Amino acid sequence: MTDLFEQHDLQQKMASRRHGELVKAIKKHDALYYAKDAPEISDADYDSLRKELEDIEKQYPDLITQDSPTQSVGVAPAAQFSKVTHAVPMLSLSNVFSDQDLDDFLERIRKFLNVPAEEEIEIAAEAKIDGLSCSLRYEHGQLVQAATRGDGQTGEDITANVRTIADIPHEIKAAADIAVLEVRGEIYMRRSDFKHLNERHEEEGKKTFANPRNAAAGSVRQLDPQVTAQRPLRMFAYSLGEVSAPIGHTQDELRHALEGFGFAVSAPYYLERQRDGLLKAYEDIQMQRPDLDYEIDGLVYKVNRFDYQERLGFVSRAPRWATAHKFPAEKAITKLNDILVQVGRTGALTPVAELEPITVGGVVVSRATLHNEDEIERKGVKIGDHVVIQRAGDVIPQVVSVVEEKRTGQEKTFVMPHECPVCGSAAVREEGEAVRRCTGGLVCEAQALERLKHFVSRDAFDIEGMGSKVIEKFWEEELVRKPQDIFRLEEINKMLEHPIETWDGWGQKSADNLFASIRARRTIRLDRFFYALGIRQVGQATARKMAGVYGTIDAIEKAMQDAHDPESEALRDLLAIDDIGPSVAADLIAFFEEPHNLEILSDLKSLLTIEPFEMPDATDSAVAGKTVVFTGTLTQMGRQEAKAKALSLGAKVSGSVSKKTDYVVAGAEAGSKLKKAEELGVTVLSEDDWLALIQK
Ligand code: IVH
Repeated sequence: MTDLFEQHDLQQKMASRRHGELVKAIKKHDALYYAKDAPEISDADYDSLRKELEDIEKQYPDLITQDSPTQSVGVAPAAQFSKVTHAVPMLSLSNVFSDQDLDDFLERIRKFLNVPAEEEIEIAAEAKIDGLSCSLRYEHGQLVQAATRGDGQTGEDITANVRTIADIPHEIKAAADIAVLEVRGEIYMRRSDFKHLNERHEEEGKKTFANPRNAAAGSVRQLDPQVTAQRPLRMFAYSLGEVSAPIGHTQDELRHALEGFGFAVSAPYYLERQRDGLLKAYEDIQMQRPDLDYEIDGLVYKVNRFDYQERLGFVSRAPRWATAHKFPAEKAITKLNDILVQVGRTGALTPVAELEPITVGGVVVSRATLHNEDEIERKGVKIGDHVVIQRAGDVIPQVVSVVEEKRTGQEKTFVMPHECPVCGSAAVREEGEAVRRCTGGLVCEAQALERLKHFVSRDAFDIEGMGSKVIEKFWEEELVRKPQDIFRLEEINKMLEHPIETWDGWGQKSADNLFASIRARRTIRLDRFFYALGIRQVGQATARKMAGVYGTIDAIEKAMQDAHDPESEALRDLLAIDDIGPSVAADLIAFFEEPHNLEILSDLKSLLTIEPFEMPDATDSAVAGKTVVFTGTLTQMGRQEAKAKALSLGAKVSGSVSKKTDYVVAGAEAGSKLKKAEELGVTVLSEDDWLALIQK
């Protein structure tokens, strides 16, 4: 008997020791996962640790302590940041690359505003900080919320972390009377601080960061603010979001006001009236670049006057009143080992250079795009060549040119295949097109797979936990072959012999999270849905316009099918939408003719709730839903501004007068369109009438 007791005792002791180890290990991994965003073990391994702990506690309930992870339900910090919807969207910037682009930018502004050539338009120029943008909301002078940019509409709540940044005031006494003041700027890390941080991490055996930007982004996105507090973060303020009272009349005044509020603004700054002055500012800042203790990747030019900014508004995701002038890309020379051909979502065959890995601008590059066969020919690139490559910001690296001196004579000429390397279908080049395309459609795995990746991507369905790698895996396992399969995945998974949660690298937690994010996306706004379909040439801006004009997916479908008839009103309406020309229209119409697509569409409609998308401001305007034609010379604004304003108020703008036209706005010297309007009895408005109408 003693033996047995002894044995039991021993087992209990071992269990107790193991229990202690497990508690410690699970706590450590909880912290890594939740607080540091840097798990060291797979979810499956984590789950098995927990399971072992639970089993021990079942057998030896005496071992259950209060601090056991099995008892601490709900104390783990949230696994995610909560979402913040920006009251005013956080935009991105268009780019200019050359002097000519800059001239075009300035000319567009002048035309849009209809400002005569002799009148100067002031432009403020400052450094473009390479960090991450953030929006700080102050109510009556108190910092109440800080958010990341996210997709521009919705960001993440990083208030607790931002409170640890010394550059950011918690209170602005001078703004105590301002109900809402949103200050926007860039969070960044100084180069010197970055160096020290990496040295410290190196010594402590922790992960080091590739560049200051990554270090700043990683630090802001820590779930534990105490970790953020130890990171040397800073911020430069440069613009506003929602404000309940105007802060100055110009960008220049705003800069001073921000400084007065206690924010840092970046030092190199110019206020110019001429393009030459701006180009000089560009040269100057480029010269100062190596001496600045923070990374910049170009300049931002902003129209100084706020009333002009207001009138200029924005297109798609970027303001018309600002643009970025980027510095030339960083370059490097390396060997091109091979050329592979990738097939994209629209079937485009893209030759990709396989490179001897090399560091460019702090990032290791082993692939670069060669765009298409004409480019390869133009640049004279051969397999085995040494090539100059460049990286511009986040853009895919490109092959710029060949280093001819390094040729050995062993280089091989590349021939673009005339069959799709993935499905073997013919790959053809249509007349006037540089791109060769696979004709396999959805039969081609590459196209179907790329379309799926696009479908779940950030600006489309944005399914968290379903990145490219996961989609590829589901594809291989034949679980997801069409978009609609995603929304059946949870049900199908229940019937699998080896459900997802048992896969390598997966666990119950990650599978549950994935299904939750899929469920969350069963309701989607029409513009996102339409963009997700991956129709050729239909980007976010076009998707938004289509959604705004037609309102529902059924209306779009019907209109596109009607528009097949070249004489139809439907086609005329489609072409009247700003930015939709014959080529985009043809792709739209073709998409809705293809039976495969219609099948996917009808299936998706049955699985999802697609919410209408209303153009901003459109709801209660006098011209919402009306079709307007502008003709003649307008005096108070440019034609572009007039059109943009009409569209933003929910009107349709057409180029030709028909019975369906509601208003013809006739400026000076209006000709045949005015005549036609009078013949058809369409209401004709003067520019002043029009302005009065939209002011209501
Ligand atoms: S003004 C677009 N000024 O660059 C709204 N932006 O690539 C006005 N950025 O999202 C922004 N330095 O976060 C402005 N001096 C600066 C900037 C700056 C960096 C960021 C900004 C924007 C991104 C676009």
